[in-house]
Amino acid sequence: MIIGKYPNLRLRRNRKYSWSRKLIQENTLSPSDFILPIFLIDGSNKKESIKSMPGVYRYTINRLSQIIDRAIKKEIPMVALFPKTKSNLKNEIGSESLNENNLVCKAIIEIKKKFKNQIGIMCDVALDPYTSHGHDGLIKSNQIINDETIEVLINQSLLQAEMGCDVLAPSDMMDGRIGKIRKALDKSKFQNVQILSYAAKYASSFYGPFRDAVGSKGSLKGDKKTYQMDFRNSDEAIREVALDIKEGADMVIVKPGMPYLDIIKSIKEKFKIPVFAYQVSGEYSLISNAIQKKLINEDAVFESLVAFKRAGANAIVSYYADRIDKIIK
Ligand code: PBG
Repeated sequence: MIIGKYPNLRLRRNRKYSWSRKLIQENTLSPSDFILPIFLIDGSNKKESIKSMPGVYRYTINRLSQIIDRAIKKEIPMVALFPKTKSNLKNEIGSESLNENNLVCKAIIEIKKKFKNQIGIMCDVALDPYTSHGHDGLIKSNQIINDETIEVLINQSLLQAEMGCDVLAPSDMMDGRIGKIRKALDKSKFQNVQILSYAAKYASSFYGPFRDAVGSKGSLKGDKKTYQMDFRNSDEAIREVALDIKEGADMVIVKPGMPYLDIIKSIKEKFKIPVFAYQVSGEYSLISNAIQKKLINEDAVFESLVAFKRAGANAIVSYYADRIDKIIK
């Protein structure tokens, strides 16, 4: 309820000095609000820049500890691993996703060996980094087939859990996968592996630079509209989240971030569960390139991140996470 009236009430009074503005602040950021995505590449001793994402790199396994160490020092609670799979390892059914020597598996083992449980590891559950057609699922007669895809996702989940992954994040948007993955994990003694569901994931143009980063851009045939959500809808996001909670999701993600703040807010208000925002690659590229071109100043980064907290997000997946100390200052 808003009470008061000008001239007795002047909201500018509280904004007069910096100390006073600090007292009435409703939201702040700290490193513990962040999840850092990390891109992996094959080979040795490489830290490769990504043209469309200035300041973001792909790391070989033997260079990983450099970035993980930095994340731990900055008190980031978790990293998210994304592989750029060599094209000769991709096929129609994404079988490299089930190879226990794939990049993600090697990275999990390397991180757990060196850093134990000092930092959480989150892995995407989806086939798109591994399929020659760039889709998140299997294809039969030009359709992404739901239930058959889930069978592969279950095996991908079990493999990642076995390697030591802490948080499985299904990002594929197949119906019913959370329940089936939860059941399989519990049956295999992985009751403590968490599931962070990409519950409200929209078919978005803001993923472009990511597909560049993992090398699925050129290969993607068509679009992902038969499984990712229509950006015109919000009630549907509520239904997606409700189902995933019933099926056993511990936390949910809304993705992309900035164009979907309304979705974050309504999910938080309705379900009172941990909600994470994903500030996706396209958002990162827009902001970073605009700063480089001096169209906006770098305070825009802080502003874009606080917006997620204001909307109700508990944490934020962001490519800025490794520089968050400077951004907060
Ligand atoms: C794969 C996946 C995507 C992203 C995260 N996991 C791309 C997609 O669905 O096409 C996008 C992340 C980003 O743009 O930063 N399922």
